[in-house]
Amino acid sequence: MALILGIESSCDETAAAVVSTDRQILSHALAGQEEAHRPFGGVVPEIAARAHVEALEPLVAQALADAGVTLDQIDAVAATAGPGLIGGVMVGLVTAKALALAADKPLIAVNHLEGHALSPRLADPDLQFPYLLLLVSGGHCQLLLVEGVGNYRRLATTIDDAAGEAFDKTAKLLGLGFPGGPRVEQAAKLGDPKAVKLPRPLVGTAEPHFSFAGLKSAVLRARDANTHSAEDIAASFQQAVVDCLVDRTRRALARVSEEAVQPTALVVAGGVAANQAVRGALEALAAAHDLPFFAPPLWLCTDNGAMIAWAGAERFEAGLTDPLDFAARPRWPLDPNAEKARGAGVKA
Ligand code: KG4
Ligand code: ZN
Repeated sequence: MALILGIESSCDETAAAVVSTDRQILSHALAGQEEAHRPFGGVVPEIAARAHVEALEPLVAQALADAGVTLDQIDAVAATAGPGLIGGVMVGLVTAKALALAADKPLIAVNHLEGHALSPRLADPDLQFPYLLLLVSGGHCQLLLVEGVGNYRRLATTIDDAAGEAFDKTAKLLGLGFPGGPRVEQAAKLGDPKAVKLPRPLVGTAEPHFSFAGLKSAVLRARDANTHSAEDIAASFQQAVVDCLVDRTRRALARVSEEAVQPTALVVAGGVAANQAVRGALEALAAAHDLPFFAPPLWLCTDNGAMIAWAGAERFEAGLTDPLDFAARPRWPLDPNAEKARGAGVKA
């Protein structure tokens, strides 16, 4: 059994955790930056980087203290090395390098997306490779066949916005505040999902790609029409996102079965996986395909240190460690062979 210290700092959460290779979460400490970014209605990279600098050292100390271990008792130091906001990533990675050097322990440079992709295996030892993963976060919306540690085949991605980005922009348009996803979910509970007719971009197309930019424009038009409440628009928007996610995931399931690949399960991870409507609809889709369904507990869906420590644990067990000169990567696709999707990376 080995102990891994994990550090996350790629967006607006500073986090550190100690996790063992046999799935014990000894500690997880997290400092959000919501207050700092709220006046701007979104994450400001410079503010984020500075806040990570201030928060990280005491958080690491807290994670070690809560776990009841010293740095010497840790077997490896893992940190997000990308993709993400480069200033924040560098703060976390450089801290991990310093700790690894000081304690003479190996460094493990973790792809943030791999942290999300493997997080369901931390929560549940029954989840085996290969599985079909819907990775839905603030920066990404992808369908991946997770074949093993470090082995990901991307079946689809978004051609414009990520699903979480659409939630955040909708919240902003409706004046629901920041962070957007949970606010839209709350408002949606009070609204009628059939009230506003909204598009389902790309639904029914052969490739299981996603698109959310048109949905966001439709929300803007619905708001300006002044005919429906924010709650009705939020509920209709959430339903449209759920319909898109389910249709595209169904298409990906068909695609893998055409290739005679039998996934062990349907899995959802990433911040948007914290959404109950999303979880419920995907669970029903899995049941219709006679597949087990896995979704991490809510706190493990949004960014945290435990998922980075766990990805580090999986890599450590596979003998994968990294040199101390490993450079932070603002862009770092999980599947290096995946083609660039049309329009991908174009921020609206
Ligand atoms: O994985 P994550 O914490 O950070 C990234 O790697 O992007 O995901 C954050 C995203 C944000 O866009 C946030 O609005 C969304 O996940 N999110 C939600 C919910 N909780 C977080 N979206 C919908 N419903 C939620 N309950
Ligand atoms: Zn994330």
